[in-house]
Order: sequence, then structure tokens, then C-alpha cells
Amino acid sequence: MNVIQNNKELQNLISSMRKENAKIAFVPTMGNLHRGHLSLIELAKKHANYVIVSIFVNPIQFNDDDDFNNYPRTVESDIDKLNSADVDLLFLPSRQDLFPLGTEFATQIHIPEISDDLCGRVRPGHFEGVASVVLRLFNIVKPDIAIFGQKDFQQKLLIERMICDLALNIKVITAPIIREADGLAMSSRNQFLSASKRHEACNLYRVIKEVQYDIHKNYDKFSLLEKNLKKELTKYGFSVDYIAIRSSINLNLPEKECKNLIILVSAIIDNVRLIDNILIDCN
Ligand code: PAF
Repeated sequence: MNVIQNNKELQNLISSMRKENAKIAFVPTMGNLHRGHLSLIELAKKHANYVIVSIFVNPIQFNDDDDFNNYPRTVESDIDKLNSADVDLLFLPSRQDLFPLGTEFATQIHIPEISDDLCGRVRPGHFEGVASVVLRLFNIVKPDIAIFGQKDFQQKLLIERMICDLALNIKVITAPIIREADGLAMSSRNQFLSASKRHEACNLYRVIKEVQYDIHKNYDKFSLLEKNLKKELTKYGFSVDYIAIRSSINLNLPEKECKNLIILVSAIIDNVRLIDNILIDCN
């Protein structure tokens, strides 16, 4: 695997890939890779001739300095995992590569319909930070395909909307959520849970999973369902940011005839914010 820290060197390698007319798939990450990330890479390999991964802990998507400073940085072990996964190229951009004139007054991407809702309401500025860095990475890597995980469903919709609005020629492929044996969605944040709270954390998935089968019978009762789910999660020690039943097409409040639903949740346990979701096809 080529490990590239320099944008010019990256451009040379990308042009030689392009000369072969090869398809390039891109997996942007913030590192601290786990099986969830590796599943994105596996999917990328199925759709392209070359797979490029980036690791950059993006300062502008954190609205809390401690959260940014404590984000686990494990580049050496990430490189080993990427080598074993047979990734072609790892791009480790510097802050200077992505924000040449600094982050403070840098150009930002705001996608109003998606950015200010749900996780955007809980973490103001987060999605501007995500979209702004992903657009920069897309402009540098120029991939044909980009892989995003369903776990960050709102992020995935945000990126698709940006690609559509800005006429970028990139296809997004969504990778399913990878879970631990007890159902907890894999996340770099799980390692911060104490053993006892880690045990409780699996209730996040268990609770939202319970309603998925009869949700289509309860169109007129979504807000009551959300309230009950919140109550149940609170019983298990979660402080719930939101629990929402929405259209999975655009995250709008679902109309009665909406057949594509999603239950999304964000909740804090042991000072760790966890998110999860379940897609529900009512066809
Ligand atoms: O999902 C992530 O890890 C980040 O939000 C991303 C897409 C790499 C942007 O920094």
C-alpha cells in the first residue's frame, strides 16, 4: 500500500491510475479503524479497480475541543489493518492540505435541509464541518465512487445531497451497519464505555428494533411511539438527544403513504454519544 502525505505525490499516483481507465473508490475516515471501516473497504473493492482510504481527524466537525483532542489517533495500527485489507493507497493529508489558509475563515458548505436537523441540532456546525472537508477530499482524490456507512445515515444523505446540488460526478454506495455480537453498532466511541455501561449500551439497538415490525400499523401514533421509546431508553440510563421516525428518502416527517421509513436515535450513556438507526421497508 502506498502511504501518501503529500498532495503532489498523490496527484501523480492518481493520474497513473486514471491512465489505465480504472475506477477509483474512496473511503474517507478519521482513523481508529474497526471492522465497520473494514467492511466499507471490502465493499469498495467490489466496485472499483483501486481503493483509496484517507485518514484525517477533521477539526471543523467537532463542536467540542475535548472531543477533538481525545479522538483516538492510531495511525500505525490503522496502517497495518489497511495493508492486510489490501488497500491500494492511504492518503494522510495535513491540515495545510485541506485548509491552506487556516480553518477559521475557510469556505464552508451548508446544506440547510439536512444540516440543522437531528444530529445537526444536537451538534451545531457538525455537518458543515463534514460536508466542507468531504468536498475538499473529493476535489483532491476525484473518486468515481465513495463509500459511506449506513450508521451515519444523516451524513450519507448530506453527502448525496451535496453531490447532487454541486453536480459532482461521484456515486455514493452505502454499506450496512456492522454490529457487535450483542447488537451494538460498531463505533470508535464504544471503547470509551466502562464495562458495566458497555453492557447496557446494547439496549439502544434492542429497543429501536422492537418497534420495527409493527411500525407500519401505527402511522397516526409515531410521536407516541417516539415518546415511549425515549422513556424506555431513559430507564436503561441513556440521556436521549432524539429518537425519530422519519422518511428514509429525505428525513422529512413521514406522510401516511410513505413506504420507506427509518428510526434514528442518538443518546448518551457514560458521557459517550452513540447513534444508531434501522431502515424499515413498508412495501
Ligand atoms: O464519518 C467520518 O468518519 C467523518 O465524518 C468523515 C466522513 C471522514 C469526514 O471527516
